[in-house]
Amino acid sequence: MTLDISIRTDDILTSDSHLIQSFANLHGLKQQDARTAIVSANGAYVTDSEGNKLIDGIGGLWCVNAGHGRKEIIDAITEQLNTLDYYSTFYNFTHPTAAALAKKIAELAPGHLNSVHFGNSGSVANDSAIRILHHYYNRLGKPNKKLVLSRQGAYHGSTYLAMAMTTPAYSDGWDVANNLVHHLRCPHHWREGDGMTEAEFLKALLADAKARIEELGAENIACFIAEPIQGAGGLIVPPEGYHAEMGALCRNYDIKYITDEVVTAFGRLGHYFASKDVFGVQPDIITTAKGLTSGYQPLSATIISDEIHEVVSGDGAMFLHGMTYSGHPAASAAALANIALMERDQIPQRARVTGKRFENNLRGLADLDLVGEVRGSHFMMGIEFVKDKEKKTPFEPEDQIGLKISRAAQDRGLIARPLGNILILSPTLIMTEEQIDRTSDILRDSITEVQGAP
Ligand SMILES: Cc1ncc(COP(=O)(O)O)c(C=O)c1O
Repeated sequence: MTLDISIRTDDILTSDSHLIQSFANLHGLKQQDARTAIVSANGAYVTDSEGNKLIDGIGGLWCVNAGHGRKEIIDAITEQLNTLDYYSTFYNFTHPTAAALAKKIAELAPGHLNSVHFGNSGSVANDSAIRILHHYYNRLGKPNKKLVLSRQGAYHGSTYLAMAMTTPAYSDGWDVANNLVHHLRCPHHWREGDGMTEAEFLKALLADAKARIEELGAENIACFIAEPIQGAGGLIVPPEGYHAEMGALCRNYDIKYITDEVVTAFGRLGHYFASKDVFGVQPDIITTAKGLTSGYQPLSATIISDEIHEVVSGDGAMFLHGMTYSGHPAASAAALANIALMERDQIPQRARVTGKRFENNLRGLADLDLVGEVRGSHFMMGIEFVKDKEKKTPFEPEDQIGLKISRAAQDRGLIARPLGNILILSPTLIMTEEQIDRTSDILRDSITEVQGAP
């Protein structure tokens, strides 16, 4: 059967005028050619409605860690739906797949993080973490200990509370529940630490955090929430030792540490969880989603410590929290099959090697005039473009530099995500060396083209 590709694209885009895209310029999308319809996917590639095969340089949305079209995951979902399509984990109910997944996650999570509450998105996982902690402090007779410390440059999701914890730049013109959250300094040495060594910058960040804690009163602060590497807020790697030091600071002040591993878990940085193995911090709560199912089903997890669990499951407590799809059988089956695949193919371990090649290749683009900084780690990278390399002068939003370079890359067969002056790369973790090298070649050619005609 031959596909009439042009009619198909028109059909899709006509229907699509009823769809509201997320984080999009909806006015701009009204132009007929502004949207890309992805119609199929396999391995490290996706195919658009015009028949173009593109390297999926953003892994769907930082999530298709195991690669597209993995039969093992698809079959596990189908088998689960044939056996038990749906039952809830409300009240006294459970089912074997959610139970087995909770046990598996508890085995993989560091330290005494042994209890798992499921949700269906990273935003919900983060909201859940805060709700659970607030209840925990109520149970301990500390009803005032409710404030949340987050950071400039953070991205924690777009439910009302998750957006309040996200960097304010993301809610321009939108309201947030801003009475609970305080943002600490962004830990970006290249932009924020001018004139300081990385070690001096770290000291400054810690001093700032300490001052904010003293000012707000530790007795009013529930937690600090942090992505190990800030992703959608600009791909920011904190100074060496930052999380371990912040962990110690929080412990001193009896402030709980939440690591948002929605992106960094399940192999993206070469480990199942990055908090302890990569950044040396033992959190009280880890939230995760995305790579947990490699995107095959919507699922998130809020993983809490034994100490918190003991309080919220104590005599007289009621856990008044949950979503209809918490621990959905098909999503739980997808996650179990995804983790089994990762274990069988050693995907995180392999990513330590191939991810380093990806990182090093991208770092090699730093010689280009437009490139101010290449940053990130393994399969989580960002390239920031500047007008003047020496002075680090940013482009204006109307220059649309990220967008122009991403379009040039897409024309050459690569999807990369523009974020203002930054290009984000977060591909599948199963890329071959050839695909990795092709990605950096396309990026070099695309940046060079735009550099020639900015
Ligand atoms: C670090 C981080 N936390 C939370 C979220 C929100 O996840 P979701 O979009 O599944 O709600 C994201 C999404 O990109 C994220 O990158």
